[in-house]
Amino acid sequence: MKFSILIGALMGSLFFSNSLLSADQATIDKGRRLYLSNCIQCHNKDPNLKGSIGPEMVDAPLSVMTSMIMTGAYPTVLPTGFIPKRKSKGMRKIPRLQKDIPAIYEFVQSVKKKK
Ligand code: HEC
Repeated sequence: MKFSILIGALMGSLFFSNSLLSADQATIDKGRRLYLSNCIQCHNKDPNLKGSIGPEMVDAPLSVMTSMIMTGAYPTVLPTGFIPKRKSKGMRKIPRLQKDIPAIYEFVQSVKKKK
């Protein structure tokens, strides 16, 4: 009896951790799709590299990515330690992506090369 409760708890936690993992993967996949359909006309297919117009973006924190997507510009107060890759004003805002910015950010960070 005790044994079956133990097995049950074990199966439950396995199931739980698996579904957490796949939720994360689903977010990354969604972010990848959105990145490929909205960003690569200017940025590189690989966010670690420069694109035709837009710079690499793996070093930009979520707050910077949010500002770029919502306003088309860097935040007026930059996060400590963050150095903008460009001084240009070439990015267009894409505010309809607002709720998906965390997914796009997750995707970009998931492919970031370790230095
Ligand atoms: C029309 C071209 C264009 C599109 C489309 C575009 N960007 Fe940009 N992006 C730029 C340019 C150019 C810069 C450099 C700063 C500037 O000129 O505004 C930039 C800068 C950035 C930066 C700051 C990088 C850094 O470290 O300085 C981030 C983050 C970013 N873009 C994310 C995105 C994401 C995510 C998408 C898609 C949802 C996207 N951009 C779509 C052109 C574009």
